[in-house]
Amino acid sequence: MCGIFAYLGSKSSIKECLNGLKLLEYRGYDSAGIAAIKNNKLIHFKASGKIEALEKKINLKDLKLDLAIGHTRWATHGSAIEKNAHPHFDDKQNVAIVHNGIIENYDILKKLLISKNYKFRSDTDTEVIAQLISSNYKNDLVESTIKSLKELKGSFAIALIHKNHPNEIIAASRESPLAIGFNDKKTEVIISSDPNAFSGRNLNVIFLKNDEIAHIKNQEIRIINLKNKTLKKTFEKINAKNIKFSKKGFEHFMLKEIFDQPSTIQKAYLGRMTENEGLVEFEDLKLSKSFLSKIDNIIITACGTSHHAALIAKSLIEEKANILVSAEIASEMRFKTPILTKNTLVIAISQSGETADTIAAIKTAKEKGAKILSIVNVENSSLSRISDSSIFLKAGIERSVCSTKAFSSQITVLYLFAIFLSRLKSMQKKEAILLLTELKKIPSKVRKILKNTSIIEEKAKKYSKFENFFFLGRNLMYPTAMEAALKLKEISYLHASAYPAGEMKHGPLALIDSKLAIIAFSSNKKTYDKMLSSLMEARARNAKILAFATKNSYGIEDIADDVIWLDNTIDELSIFPSTIAAQLFAYFIAKIRKTDIDQPRNLAKSVTVE
Ligand code: G6P
Repeated sequence: MCGIFAYLGSKSSIKECLNGLKLLEYRGYDSAGIAAIKNNKLIHFKASGKIEALEKKINLKDLKLDLAIGHTRWATHGSAIEKNAHPHFDDKQNVAIVHNGIIENYDILKKLLISKNYKFRSDTDTEVIAQLISSNYKNDLVESTIKSLKELKGSFAIALIHKNHPNEIIAASRESPLAIGFNDKKTEVIISSDPNAFSGRNLNVIFLKNDEIAHIKNQEIRIINLKNKTLKKTFEKINAKNIKFSKKGFEHFMLKEIFDQPSTIQKAYLGRMTENEGLVEFEDLKLSKSFLSKIDNIIITACGTSHHAALIAKSLIEEKANILVSAEIASEMRFKTPILTKNTLVIAISQSGETADTIAAIKTAKEKGAKILSIVNVENSSLSRISDSSIFLKAGIERSVCSTKAFSSQITVLYLFAIFLSRLKSMQKKEAILLLTELKKIPSKVRKILKNTSIIEEKAKKYSKFENFFFLGRNLMYPTAMEAALKLKEISYLHASAYPAGEMKHGPLALIDSKLAIIAFSSNKKTYDKMLSSLMEARARNAKILAFATKNSYGIEDIADDVIWLDNTIDELSIFPSTIAAQLFAYFIAKIRKTDIDQPRNLAKSVTVE
């Protein structure tokens, strides 16, 4: 999973590519590269690591070229070294290509090409596409691309150039998103893996469907299929002129995004609830109330942090709306046989809306006739386009790979959705009023945590000395513990396992000694006493315990070594203060350990391969 950005237009194409790639860097930062055509020859620049390293290798003064293709890589085939960085070329250095996806039959094709004396320079699957197009080339670049694409199995979004076609870029897609945009004056054409790279621009955009090819020649765009038939397409306006990225004075995007949360939580509920009526409504919900009131089974699918939001939603919807819910990890759901009836709703949760596993799971459910609702942050994302209806998080762009504000917005929307469904069933107005009124108090409770982060920083200093952590919780505090453990793993590279506290005695207790730290989430009244018992058992075996507890808790300070006190709220909402305090805890530990907080090693924000 990688980012593709290509430019054909009146500005310096290489400079535009560098800027575009920076906006896509969250899709992978193992290496980066750019290719262009100069004096009828292909030129290229490559560097392992981030775009910054690539930028240092380029002297823009000598390079006022009209066209360029660029790539930022998250390694799949071949390690993260320069020779595997895109663009890749054919033997003769005629074709340059950038690719996102996986070519499943690359090995067979590679062997075939080697038998015809083609020499390979990289370990990637992508190089096969360049060689194949070159081997099929007989002066018509479109025809040779079509012929080659028919031979490929797997997924791809590609952009390619040929030295004999100095004014042309060809882009194509199969099971991998790719957007093509042009400005009103038709002086610029941009190809990008996703609309995030359109920021600062006002464009007319089309998203390529499976096996569609865009042939761009001198700023004219023709969309064709694999039969070389021109397709009639309507371009949609995307105005991203005012979208800008800034850390707003914070040291990292992650910290800025943690601090965004009082306002992003509010944005997720504003205009969607009337608390004194106990009512919830979602704008543009394209699923009828008669269908929604008959739902008796919900399957929620997602990955990573979004999956933790799904686990929380499962508990809330089952408890409040009395509807059976399963929360399936998307990469697993694809290979299961989910029971889908006419009264099943499938919900996909995703910040990016581009996660390949989630999209694949949804496509399978859709083929079987299920209705799909996506809860997604990025509007115009692949997921929102294939869903029957979407609810947007309105959290704004999340830049840090480690998700923070998107999670709290997901929880807000799912909490509202649980109340919405429950009201269609049997929830009384009085209960809904209470739940919504409490939600409105959350932003100010979060603000309080953010006003005094020094206590969390101090505890982070103390616990940064540990190498192994257990994160424990019960009921809604269990997925909260899972999410908190994930934050620590992602950015501090420390081992952190999350358990439902009651499970400790069935195995994990064997790992406890004085070198293990337990991070306990005890803000759930229903399970509080049981949680204390589990912590006593750990304490008796010399574990060090840091607890996140609400101010009205009793007795925890006698068991835990340290306590971070949080504002009281109802059980259903205790996720918010606990999660946000835990995000800060992970952030401060990572800072002490001097890791790359916004772009942790080996990870990417948008995982666009299965
Ligand atoms: C990646 C990110 C995670 C994210 C997950 C799902 O692994 O690093 O932060 O939770 O993908 O992403 P999505 O965009 O679908 O929520």
